[in-house]
Amino acid sequence: MNSLHEIFCAWGTDKGAFHDYGPNYEEFLVPGSVRRLLEIGVWTGCSLLAWHEWLPSKARIWGVDPLPQPEAIHGVPRIHYRQGSIMDPALIATLPKEFDVIIDDGSHLSWEILGALDLLWPRLTPGGWYVVEDTYAPLSAPIEAIVNRVSPVEHHLRVPHNESEILFLKKGPPDP
Ligand SMILES: C[S@@+](CC[C@H](N)C(=O)[O-])C[C@H]1O[C@@H](n2cnc3c(N)ncnc32)[C@H](O)[C@@H]1O
Repeated sequence: MNSLHEIFCAWGTDKGAFHDYGPNYEEFLVPGSVRRLLEIGVWTGCSLLAWHEWLPSKARIWGVDPLPQPEAIHGVPRIHYRQGSIMDPALIATLPKEFDVIIDDGSHLSWEILGALDLLWPRLTPGGWYVVEDTYAPLSAPIEAIVNRVSPVEHHLRVPHNESEILFLKKGPPDP
């Protein structure tokens, strides 16, 4: 099986050759345990196609972006697209109630990162991972602010190079 880095590079997402996030995702995500993945920020659709290739066939993939649905993902049965902003609660109401993985690769603006966390953390399954990409971006939220917003059971920052920084937040079990 190809590495996630190879898959990212083959589809052309900047998660591959530019950011080199493949090994970071492989460190934390176990493909066989992912049933539902949501990515904020779709652009051309190439990262959704990479997840589609990497995850097992039981996994379903959702993407949200204000742009019209990209041609590349039209008709791919396990990929679901919602056009609009992740800050829109009416759009979020159309999404499944639970995701095992949520990735924020959207605007990289502090208020949207924190706002999306408020809206989506409740939809993350216990033991699931919430991933915030590109936290080096100038208008991104400080790492501490992101972590303190949700008190994850674990968090890990990975910095492949100076234009790549990715934060993994793990949700703990429900309160007894
Ligand atoms: C870096 S691109 C995504 C790249 C894609 N995830 C990939 O790896 O190929 C960022 C995307 O975020 C989208 N975006 C910006 N604000 C957003 C919002 N409020 N909700 C959802 N997506 C947003 C932009 O339209 C843009 O397509």
